[in-house]
Amino acid sequence: MTEGSALIRGLEGVVAAQTELCDLDGANGRLAYRGYDIDELARQATFEEVAYVLWHGDLPKPGQLDQFTVGLIAARELPRDVVQAFRLTPRTTDPMRVLQATVAMLGMHDPDATDNSKPANLRKAARLMSQMATAICAHHRVRGGLEPVAPAADLGHAANFLHMLTGQRPAAAAVKAFDASLTLYAEHEMNASTFTTRVITSTQSDMHSAVAGGVGAIKGPLHGGAGEAVMRTLFEIGEVDNVDKFADEALATKRRLMGFGHRVYKAGDPRAAILLGLAEAACRESGQFKWFQMAVKLHKRIGDAKGLIPNVDFYSAPLFYSLGIPVDLFTPVIAAGRITGWTANIIEQHEDNRLIRPRGEYVGPKRRPYLPLGSR
Ligand code: CMC
Repeated sequence: MTEGSALIRGLEGVVAAQTELCDLDGANGRLAYRGYDIDELARQATFEEVAYVLWHGDLPKPGQLDQFTVGLIAARELPRDVVQAFRLTPRTTDPMRVLQATVAMLGMHDPDATDNSKPANLRKAARLMSQMATAICAHHRVRGGLEPVAPAADLGHAANFLHMLTGQRPAAAAVKAFDASLTLYAEHEMNASTFTTRVITSTQSDMHSAVAGGVGAIKGPLHGGAGEAVMRTLFEIGEVDNVDKFADEALATKRRLMGFGHRVYKAGDPRAAILLGLAEAACRESGQFKWFQMAVKLHKRIGDAKGLIPNVDFYSAPLFYSLGIPVDLFTPVIAAGRITGWTANIIEQHEDNRLIRPRGEYVGPKRRPYLPLGSR
């Protein structure tokens, strides 16, 4: 290790890059993308506008948004080989593993695959945003023995996603809640998966390779995989009346509770506050209010007992569930939101790149001689 440098476990508090994308104020629980508060974006902007802001820097004017949206819609179809690969994939394969392989396959088909220029990266980012949504839904349909639903050119990104998943035209309230969720997941500074994409990019590798790495990182239960784990916790609890008993046992055994805690936010995750409202409305609307009631009760018990805050993945779980999203697609959906932030970070990293290469502190055996096989 370099003289004078100290080990910082989990790189806590380390600043790894300058960024114009995300202003995360952990002390005050505030978050903005390129200066636009997350609360206003979630309530008023579409996910397409958020993608535009992240990639181009400012909100689009009407003509710019029209042109941008036309490009996204045109990019929704998947290469035939990719759908064929879904048919050959074991039905039990976890959808995040399929998504990671899909991103790599999309790189094989992308005409700009190895071009790291900004114009090429903007084209690839748009294709990945559209194609990942189609791929998640197509794989889900195929694994269930159904045909993929073709993208609908008259629907926006969020509505088309729900349409491709279910084959039904989604209700306006569901579209708004899903669209806002994608916005809330779009970008979050130097989180583990975004950092992964930056590390890969820093070697001058390409966007698809970096995004495939990001998918692998976000899958873990300490990161985006927490949402699925929250829903499984709620299933385990089963009924609102069981929350106290569950919480007592969890606290007594020091169980790690999914959807609680955050490395940076200590006062509260602003995304969770917005998702709480969306989950309440969606659970009520779908007739599955008990999941929301259980979540609120658990939130209060764990907050009072340990001071732990619910993070973004806590209320998105009952929200996604009540929108009819299968539990093992929660993390792919989160990745379908985060693709906008990953790609914006990849573009930013390419523009001001230096190889990311930290040191390790060696704590293994002292130097010792090699012993030939017969002498050991
Ligand atoms: N349940 C129980 N105890 C917890 C939790 C939790 N969810 N989170 C933190 N703690 C305790 C932890 O046991 C430790 O206590 P002590 O000091 O007595 O050992 C203390 O709080 C500090 O925890 P830590 O693990 O050192 O904190 P960290 O900054 O390394 O971890 C975290 C942050 C998000 C990984 C962690 O809070 C956690 O595991 N949460 C559950 C998984 C989760 O919800 N992940 C989603 C994170 S946000 C969205 C995303 O990244 O996609």
